Amino acid sequence: MSEEVRKGREGFATGLGVLAATLGSAVGLGNIWKFPSLTGTNGGAAFIFIYIISTLLVGLEVMISEHIIGRTTRKNAIDSLRSLAPRQVWWLIGAAGVLSAFLIMAFYTEVAAWVFAYIPRAISSALNTTDPAVSEKAFADLINSPWQSLIWQWVVLIWVAAIIIAGVSKGIEAMTKRLLPILFGILVIINIRSLTLPGAAEGLSFLFKPNWSAVTWMTVLTAVGLSFFKLSVGMGTMITYGSYFRDDENIPATGVRVMLSDLLVSLLAGMAIFPTVFTYGFAPDAGPSLLFITMPAVFSSLPGGPFVQNLFMVLFFLLAGIAATGAMLSLFEVPVAYLVERLGWSRRKATISTALGLALVGSTAALSNSLMANFKIAGKTMFDLFDFATSNVLLPVGGLFICLFVGWRWGYAALEKNLTNNGTLNNRAVVRAFYFLVKWVTPVLLVVVLLNGLGIIKLG
Ligand code: TRP
Repeated sequence: MSEEVRKGREGFATGLGVLAATLGSAVGLGNIWKFPSLTGTNGGAAFIFIYIISTLLVGLEVMISEHIIGRTTRKNAIDSLRSLAPRQVWWLIGAAGVLSAFLIMAFYTEVAAWVFAYIPRAISSALNTTDPAVSEKAFADLINSPWQSLIWQWVVLIWVAAIIIAGVSKGIEAMTKRLLPILFGILVIINIRSLTLPGAAEGLSFLFKPNWSAVTWMTVLTAVGLSFFKLSVGMGTMITYGSYFRDDENIPATGVRVMLSDLLVSLLAGMAIFPTVFTYGFAPDAGPSLLFITMPAVFSSLPGGPFVQNLFMVLFFLLAGIAATGAMLSLFEVPVAYLVERLGWSRRKATISTALGLALVGSTAALSNSLMANFKIAGKTMFDLFDFATSNVLLPVGGLFICLFVGWRWGYAALEKNLTNNGTLNNRAVVRAFYFLVKWVTPVLLVVVLLNGLGIIKLG
């Protein structure tokens, strides 16, 4: 354990715990509907190929940069940058990060709320119908009800807050270590079922057949954006988690492991979903309708009667709930770490205040389909606005400045010291490659994504 950690600052206790927490952050709702549906509609294996390149050239660079900023300073997202660059404005990246954490949580907790609400419904057979029109009505009833939307969001917030209060090691680390193997187990079970269905070949070809004619500049930009959201980078989540890393953690290797495991989860999720969808002749819709409308009808079509059908439905929504939990823990920890260290609050007080703040801000997203459906800014409901503002503006801007800081402000010597753990790791080639990418390649790609996201340039 490091000096700083021993001086009263908690951290992750084991290398495995570091991996579980970090992977738990990356794996989220993004793997379950974003990745599979984007892959299916953007050229299958061609998109997967471009996505992997984007993760290697953009997502991974920002993740490694955030981890080293966190670990050298052992401070929260804002104070880490303040201490590395005193009297300069770099800390604003961290401040934007705390804001992003709030805005992402505001809508993410609502999607998680629908997932949580679906678990008891799946158990009680309330979702058993092979008619998508019926499952569409069930979903509409849920999201159009102000009270249901709010109460399930509070349930999610209480669940996440309870784990956060338990602590960095005893809460986040212990919980993600327990949940991730369950997540993999569920994925494997659903895969065994889906890959032995008659539509398996068609589902797999939807996902894996490379179709290069579907690839445009837009595809590339989508892949870059997804690599960002998937790896939870651009807003200080990974700075905060990096501050809990052990001194002997091999940061580049951890980054690569997280990236590969996250990719595996995405692929398994796609292989769980599309063969079943095609077997029963449903449309491979994107986004929430795939998850909440198509999938219940798909599972209700499985052979073996209501028990088997409900079992797979429950497993599927548990999977989504588990994935969302690890992601939300990492988002929640960003403001909590700041409040504890900056204002000297207890962890409990910081967590409860953050949860209350999130309940307030999040309620505008929760009510976006009911009481506040007509409250729009720039033509978007609050739910859509939070999603758009974070994914298209705040995350890429944050990621860009994090790269600029590490590549240009820090310089090679400091970088080498950090990535080699003071010379104990023999990875000079990795350090040199990383330095080149973070200085030249990643920032340029991010500027392009940003300008396109804001509509300033139009590619493809
Ligand atoms: N990576 C998560 C997912 O795929 C979402 C997420 C968690 C996130 N923390 C983040 C996205 C921080 C951006 C920034 O669902």
